[in-house]
Amino acid sequence: MPIVSTTEMFRKAYDGGYAIGAFNVNNMEIVQGITEAAAEVNSPLILQVSAGARKYAKHAYLMKLVEAAEIDTGLPIALHLDHGADFEICKSCIDGGFTSVMIDASSKSFEDNIALTKQVVEYAHDHGVVVEAELGTLAGVEDEVKVSAEDSSYTRPEDVEEFVSRTGCDSLAIAIGTSHGAYKFKPGTKPQLRFDILEEVSRRLPGFPIVLHGASSVIPKYVNIINANGGALVDAIGVPEDMLRKAATMAVCKINIDSDLRLAMTAGIREHFCEHPEHFDPRQYLTVGRDYIRELVKDKIVNVLGSDGKA
Ligand code: G3H
Ligand code: 13P
Ligand code: ZN
Repeated sequence: MPIVSTTEMFRKAYDGGYAIGAFNVNNMEIVQGITEAAAEVNSPLILQVSAGARKYAKHAYLMKLVEAAEIDTGLPIALHLDHGADFEICKSCIDGGFTSVMIDASSKSFEDNIALTKQVVEYAHDHGVVVEAELGTLAGVEDEVKVSAEDSSYTRPEDVEEFVSRTGCDSLAIAIGTSHGAYKFKPGTKPQLRFDILEEVSRRLPGFPIVLHGASSVIPKYVNIINANGGALVDAIGVPEDMLRKAATMAVCKINIDSDLRLAMTAGIREHFCEHPEHFDPRQYLTVGRDYIRELVKDKIVNVLGSDGKA
């Protein structure tokens, strides 16, 4: 099976009340950890690549790693550009074999967001590629751009029908209180998501796939390992998994996870170095990082996304 589109995945996920995990990839061990987990539980997958990942690993390497994962597992895997900032990067990924791109013009005005998204949609659809767009702004750090909580804004449900019909986008990322990075909610406060906004958006866009960014849960197990082996991550709080499970049963068809992968891999490598400071073969410590990613992704698929058995 070649790398696939998300169209069929989202249709089945919407009807089946589950979500597809969209996991950020930057190197071979991350791709292997994620795809081996998905193969164990027979789940479809989205692997996504940011501008920073393309700069780090290069387009051709990431493309071939994802193709190799598809050959190795036989799973339906979509390859998606995460947070495309302009037409040029979207075009480059479309021309370079991605099956899905995100144009993130959410920091622009409503009209400018529509104009840029529409331009990307026209080019993408001419080339058989689907487009994710965003309305509303998430707080947090992504590609070295930091959006403060004050500058973030929830999606306005009254805008979504006009936005989707004028742009022709295939899925829509909305802001309901999640944020990028490991520090999502203030320590001591109760995490809240605006499910009322999600409900109203899905009422206005029946059957239309919704995307949640900033959806890492910052699993205590990995934070504790990092803190026990060098410290520094003490008060990181993520999105509670029961909220993600609830979103997955609603109109949310794609759930983006990056920080949890970073934490799991870092936990494995730090733990390994603390136990074996004499090791210097990368295969020794990267194996542990990859094992923790496999464990994390399997747990997400089975206990949060509900996409196991759906490949
Ligand atoms: O939302 C952003 C993702 O976590 C990607 O992060 O741009 O540092 O690769 P990155
Ligand atoms: P996290 O930082 O919560 O993992 O979010 C990742 C993301 O939204 C990638 O687009
Ligand atoms: Zn994101």
